[in-house]
Amino acid sequence: MSVVLGGQTGYSGIVRGLQVKAGQHVLVHGGSGSVGLMAIQAALDAGAEVSATASGWGLQMLREKFPQVTVFDYKTDDVAANGAVYDAVYDTVGSDRVLAASFKATKQNGHVLSIVARSHRDPRFVHFFNQASGETVQILLDGLSSGRFISVIDSELPLSADNVQLDYARLQQGGVHGKLILTVG
Ligand SMILES: NC(=O)c1ccc[n+]([C@@H]2O[C@H](COP(=O)([O-])OP(=O)(O)OC[C@H]3O[C@@H](n4cnc5c(N)ncnc54)[C@H](OP(=O)(O)O)[C@@H]3O)[C@@H](O)[C@H]2O)c1
Repeated sequence: MSVVLGGQTGYSGIVRGLQVKAGQHVLVHGGSGSVGLMAIQAALDAGAEVSATASGWGLQMLREKFPQVTVFDYKTDDVAANGAVYDAVYDTVGSDRVLAASFKATKQNGHVLSIVARSHRDPRFVHFFNQASGETVQILLDGLSSGRFISVIDSELPLSADNVQLDYARLQQGGVHGKLILTVG
């Protein structure tokens, strides 16, 4: 169940929000995050050519797990360096800088979907808010058990008050590499 919230948002944003088709070129910002990781996989699954942004650990992880994806370091690389090449951009960050680079990198008839920014004057902008769906959860669970999709887990501990505090402190400190799992029973 570790991917249910972020995973649904990533999957639905690609399939329902952007309606990505085979052969399209898709850019996912925040590709190593819980939403971005599933957005990348849903876009690959749809037959798209995929690029993503990440940094540090996330950059290495994406390059190892998805060698077919072009991964940019968002701290140093310009995603618009090759011009307006994307049909669809999935933004999980929402900053002015990320949005400006996204519109520059998107084709005139393309779309920039954000799950963070609420509005933008550019007509290519789409805001997406995930609606929980049992059908999507089932697709993700089936995909994870068959190996069609993967999740990235940082640590797995038994559920206890101490472990909740430990995981919370780690999230506050930063440097968590994937999901923190607390198991029941
Ligand atoms: N609208 C909705 O329905 C909906 C649903 C779920 C989540 N959200 C929102 O979506 C956002 C992302 O959620 P999440 O669960 O995926 O978060 P997350 O797991 O914390 O991931 C965020 C990712 O963004 C990356 N990042 C940070 N600054 C960046 C930048 N300037 N350019 C590119 N990537 C950058 C981070 O990489 P580093 O670790 O390398 O910094 C990290 O991989 C949150 O704001 C959340 O509230 C909205």
